[in-house]
Amino acid sequence: MHHLLEEKGHTVWSVGPDDTVLDAIKLMALKNIGALLVVEGGNGAGDGDGKPVGIFTERDYARNVILKGKSSPATSVRDVMAAPVICVSPEKTVDDCMALMTEKRVRHLPVMDDGQLAGMISIGDLVKSIIEDQQHTIEQLEHYIHG
Ligand SMILES: NC(=O)c1ccc[n+]([C@@H]2O[C@H](COP(=O)([O-])OP(=O)(O)OC[C@H]3O[C@@H](n4cnc5c(N)ncnc54)[C@H](O)[C@@H]3O)[C@@H](O)[C@H]2O)c1
Repeated sequence: MHHLLEEKGHTVWSVGPDDTVLDAIKLMALKNIGALLVVEGGNGAGDGDGKPVGIFTERDYARNVILKGKSSPATSVRDVMAAPVICVSPEKTVDDCMALMTEKRVRHLPVMDDGQLAGMISIGDLVKSIIEDQQHTIEQLEHYIHG
């Protein structure tokens, strides 16, 4: 994941477990993202400090808030987040992460490097990387064929 994070950056947007669901979905809308790491004692940009205690995604919002008739301003993220959170190390490959996402049915993987938060990878990041690699291979083959 090293090269992928170099490209997209190491920022991980997060909320605290006691923040409200309304605050969480406002931050998701502001940053145009579909998931927030839930960090105990961290700051909003999650730059290494704090302990990940869960993850809150659009899916959790649909299923655990809307469908259950809960109120966003009156519900804490802690009560509707997914936990424990499935993380990966920076050494994992794109294929490793794709396999893990498929197996665990998740679309976001926080990257932890030696206990420190190092970034967030989404399914879209992996698809983009795979498409770029395939494009590169096609160009090389075309070059080989046409000289
Ligand atoms: N062109 C690109 O570079 C690119 C990259 C990823 C996704 N996308 C597109 O965006 C749409 C939705 O993407 P998705 O389903 O992968 O999920 P998403 O909307 O949650 O992710 C969009 C981007 O935000 C980042 N992100 C998400 N949550 C984050 C967080 N808490 N902290 C830091 N970064 C965070 C992801 O890593 C990804 O780069 C898709 O249509 C996809 O194709 C485009």
